[in-house]
Amino acid sequence: MTVHIPVLLEPTIRELVMNPSGTYVDCTFGRGGHSQALLRVLNQQGRLIALDRDPEAVSEMRSILDSRFTGVYSPFSDLDRVLQQLGVSSLDGVLMDVGVSSPQIDQPQRGFSFRQDGPLDMRMDPQVGQSAADFVNHASEHEIKEVIKQYGEERFAFQIAAAIVARRTQRQITTTLDLAQIVAGCVRTREPGQNPATRTFQALRIYVNQELAQLEQGLIKAFHALKVGGRLAVISFHSLEDRLVKQFIERLANPKSLQDQKLRKLPIQDPVPVLRKVIRVKPSAEESSCNPRSRSAVLRVTEKIAEVRE
Ligand SMILES: C[S@@+](CC[C@H](N)C(=O)[O-])C[C@H]1O[C@@H](n2cnc3c(N)ncnc32)[C@H](O)[C@@H]1O
Repeated sequence: MTVHIPVLLEPTIRELVMNPSGTYVDCTFGRGGHSQALLRVLNQQGRLIALDRDPEAVSEMRSILDSRFTGVYSPFSDLDRVLQQLGVSSLDGVLMDVGVSSPQIDQPQRGFSFRQDGPLDMRMDPQVGQSAADFVNHASEHEIKEVIKQYGEERFAFQIAAAIVARRTQRQITTTLDLAQIVAGCVRTREPGQNPATRTFQALRIYVNQELAQLEQGLIKAFHALKVGGRLAVISFHSLEDRLVKQFIERLANPKSLQDQKLRKLPIQDPVPVLRKVIRVKPSAEESSCNPRSRSAVLRVTEKIAEVRE
């Protein structure tokens, strides 16, 4: 049974919890490392609501027997609906530790790993949406190329998409190692230590789980749910996610100076700052060596300083 080692645990809890009697949401329960740490610093008036869209993570929530804790099976893009159903009107803090958990990657049957053979699935919620196999066997060559290029920032996207389409005319691509082998035949050079399939697998994972759209929706809904003085902590693991988080914060923390820059348009528009940057932290050398999966992590914490004016 694989465990998940929570990343950047100490700075996350330290910078997120300003009010131990407050109400907090952990949008990405995983195996509950951050949730457990939050419960340790909250007092008896405190409350923690945790979300996850992976049914396996949701069954792990049952192991937390604490009256201050509520676990919910939901994508965080539905945070507003979840809070409404629970009768919660505002939050002191929201945590999003996006990306995959170690059990998701390490269990071959989840289909995330190019190192172990398994069904080519990659869905965090296996009951929702299209699997990676469905996508590579049915999408057009152009769509496959665009996904691999855009979400994997892969130089050989054109060649990989062509090889996928050539191969599927002979037989369907059904396993992770099937796909990893096709990709390895196309990728001529790679960063030292990086598997040729890394970027393609990242791209398909982001695509089938709609990770960037989820993140954007989650950020917007978290912002609206926070009270003034409440904090948002986001841990991301690759540059596409971190860029989105950074631009979201810039837009709301620095709206005047950004008017001319080409940044993502957001439904939240206000000419005065509504967020304040608190901290940006990366794992220490010690954390990176004890937990190599933390190496690419970035934590950004921000504080809501005003409501958006309607
Ligand atoms: C990196 S792990 C979180 C680990 C957790 N902080 C811990 O300490 O165990 C990410 C988790 O977020 C979940 N997740 C990712 N995107 C999600 C979304 N849009 N909505 C809800 N859960 C999501 C994944 O299923 C996974 O369990």
